[in-house]
Amino acid sequence: MKTKKVTIHTLQQMKEQGEKITMLTAYDATFALLLDESQIDVLLIGDSLGMVVQGHATTLPVTLDEMIYHCRAVARGTRRAHIVGDMPFMSYQASIADAIDNAGRLIKEGGAHAVKLEGGAQHAELVQKLVAAGIPVMGHIGLTPQSVHQMGGFKIQGREDGAAEKLLEDALTLQAAGAYSIVLEGIPTSIAKTISEALAIPTIGIGAGPNCDGQVLVIYDMLGMNDGFKPRFVRTYEQLSTRIRTAVDSYSADVKSGAFPSEQESFFMDKASRPKTANATVSAIALAGGCGPGPLDAKDAKDAKDAKNPAGEDGAMYSSVDKD
Ligand code: KIV
Repeated sequence: MKTKKVTIHTLQQMKEQGEKITMLTAYDATFALLLDESQIDVLLIGDSLGMVVQGHATTLPVTLDEMIYHCRAVARGTRRAHIVGDMPFMSYQASIADAIDNAGRLIKEGGAHAVKLEGGAQHAELVQKLVAAGIPVMGHIGLTPQSVHQMGGFKIQGREDGAAEKLLEDALTLQAAGAYSIVLEGIPTSIAKTISEALAIPTIGIGAGPNCDGQVLVIYDMLGMNDGFKPRFVRTYEQLSTRIRTAVDSYSADVKSGAFPSEQESFFMDKASRPKTANATVSAIALAGGCGPGPLDAKDAKDAKDAKNPAGEDGAMYSSVDKD
């Protein structure tokens, strides 16, 4: 297993050596840890969290504070992967000074290693200034979800006359401004190929065909968590919605029938500390979850041990929690 941290230089080397880059979105520490262990190269805290986590119809309502909160959670779960935080809508469009402050917060408070922002040549000066401030910038062109109202919906871009040339020019301008990578979203394969070949920096595609230097998907989409959303560019590697429902139905049935929790999943009093008086015995019964001293006797030795060391650590209920 590779343990070396992935940096912007690693990604550049991967492009030069023809090794594809893997990127997935992550919004919390648990997913971050799993994806990091699976050797995913880049974790993107995408503002897609506005849709898949928060339940909005677009990414527009997501705030910078919310992005920082999710970045921090992802950063805590990440050991190796490169972490990119999305600049949310209106955190970089109004003024360059505000944009630099906001990008700085994603790095400083959120623990991101780089920021991603949507748009092409119009952001060249901002990209230059962010890079000069030591903040690596990933560009994002093509279908840019923050411009959903301008695009008239989440539509494939680049098919109109002159659009392919404009996309190429945007990509080259972002590269010249210092961007270290560019996401190409929702554009025809041929345009993505032309851009990927023209650029020295890596391109990461989503709905942009196989010729990009890497690929990204929204983790909830590739795990099949949303039955109602199956666009053509998404490959679902799991059907977690079904599996989650089945698991939850089983849990519910077990609780209703009393099958959960079992003795193995419950805690009992240590015999030595069990109160001896009649009143105290009643409290002990209550504390022991309804089991009196009698029925416990057969399990005394094991229970006393479990009470001291229920999950492998003295008195710890959650022994596997890695406290930071
Ligand atoms: O917000 C997001 O998840 C993204 C990816 C889809 C590229 O920008």
